[in-house]
Amino acid sequence: MGVLNGKIAVVTGAGRGIGREICLSFAKEGAKVVVNDLGGDRDGTGGGKVADEVANEINDLGGEASANYDTVGTVEGGQGIFQTCMDSFGAMDILVNNAGILRDKTLYNMEESEWDGIMEVHLKGHYNCTRPFVRYIRDENRLNCRILNMSSVSGLFGNFGQTNYGAAKAGIAGFTRSLALEVAKYKCTVNTISPGAATRLTIDLIEAAGRKYDENDWTQGPEQIAPVVTWLCSEAANDVTSQIIHSQAGIIGIMQQPAVIKSFTTDNLWTVEQLDKLMPELLEAKKHHDDEVSEKGAPKKV
Ligand SMILES: NC(=O)c1ccc[n+]([C@@H]2O[C@H](COP(=O)([O-])OP(=O)(O)OC[C@H]3O[C@@H](n4cnc5c(N)ncnc54)[C@H](O)[C@@H]3O)[C@@H](O)[C@H]2O)c1
Repeated sequence: MGVLNGKIAVVTGAGRGIGREICLSFAKEGAKVVVNDLGGDRDGTGGGKVADEVANEINDLGGEASANYDTVGTVEGGQGIFQTCMDSFGAMDILVNNAGILRDKTLYNMEESEWDGIMEVHLKGHYNCTRPFVRYIRDENRLNCRILNMSSVSGLFGNFGQTNYGAAKAGIAGFTRSLALEVAKYKCTVNTISPGAATRLTIDLIEAAGRKYDENDWTQGPEQIAPVVTWLCSEAANDVTSQIIHSQAGIIGIMQQPAVIKSFTTDNLWTVEQLDKLMPELLEAKKHHDDEVSEKGAPKKV
C-alpha cells in the first residue's frame, strides 16, 4: 500500500529532471499521474513529446499515467492540463508546479523577451495551472489536496545573472504564502520547494563553478527531491503548509520566512538623527540573527 494510493496528481514540466522523478515516485506510491511537458529547449523554445516517455515508463511498470503537452505559460494551457486530468482520471488531488526554463543575462543585457519568457513560464505558469485546480477544489469541496511550488535559491538568496528567474522564483514563494491562506478551509496545503539538482538546467552551471558532475551520485541527482515532495503529499503532512522546504546536495532543510527580527516605535515622525542611531542597531540585530541561523542550519548527519 503506497502513501499516495488513490490520489490523482498533475506534475508540470515532468518529461525530464526533477519532475520526471516526482512522477515516478508518485506512481510507485500508488498515485495516478498526468505527466505534463511542452518538451522544449532549455530556454523554453521548441517542443517535443518527452512527456510520452515518462507516461509510457509508468504505464509499463503497471502504474497509470497520461501525457499532456500544453504549455504552462498560458491560461488555455493551464486549463488544458487540468482538463487532461479530468478526462483521464475524473478527479484531481495534487498539483506540482514544476515546469521551468532559464534565460540568464545580467540586467544590463536582458531583453524584454528574456524577462517576459521567464515570468510567463514560472510565475504566470503557477497562476495558469493553479487557478483551475483551486476552483475545482472550491466547487467540488474536494478536501485534503496538495499544491507544491518550485522556487529556487536564486529567488530566495539571490543569484548573479538571474534577476528575471530570481524575481519569478521569489514571487512563487510569495504566491505560496498567500494561496495557503486562501485554500486552508478546504484542508489543502501549499508548500514551496527549494530544490537543487544536476539537470539540463544546471549541469553546465555546476561545472562552471568548478564542481565535477557525477551522474551516479544521488546527492547531485534530481531523484533526491522526489521523496520529499511525495512525503509532503502524503497524509503525514496534513498540517504542513506555507513552508519552504530545501532539498539539495543530499540535504533536507526548512527555511526561515520573512519576519521582523527587531523593531522600534516612536510617537512622532522619525528624524534622520534617530535613524542614525537606530539603523546600526537594526543591522547589528540582523547580523546576529544571520550568524545564529547559519550555525543552526548547518546539516546534521542522520
Ligand atoms: N535543477 C536545479 O538545481 C533547480 C534549482 C532550483 C530550481 N529548480 C526548478 O525546478 C524545476 C525543474 O527543473 P529541472 O532542473 O528539473 O529542469 P529540466 O529542464 O530538467 O525540467 C524542466 C522541464 O520543464 C519543461 N517545460 C519548460 N517550459 C515549459 C512549459 N512552458 N510548459 C510545460 N513544460 C515546460 C521542460 O520541457 C523540461 O522538461 C524548475 O522550475 C526549475 O526552475 C531547479
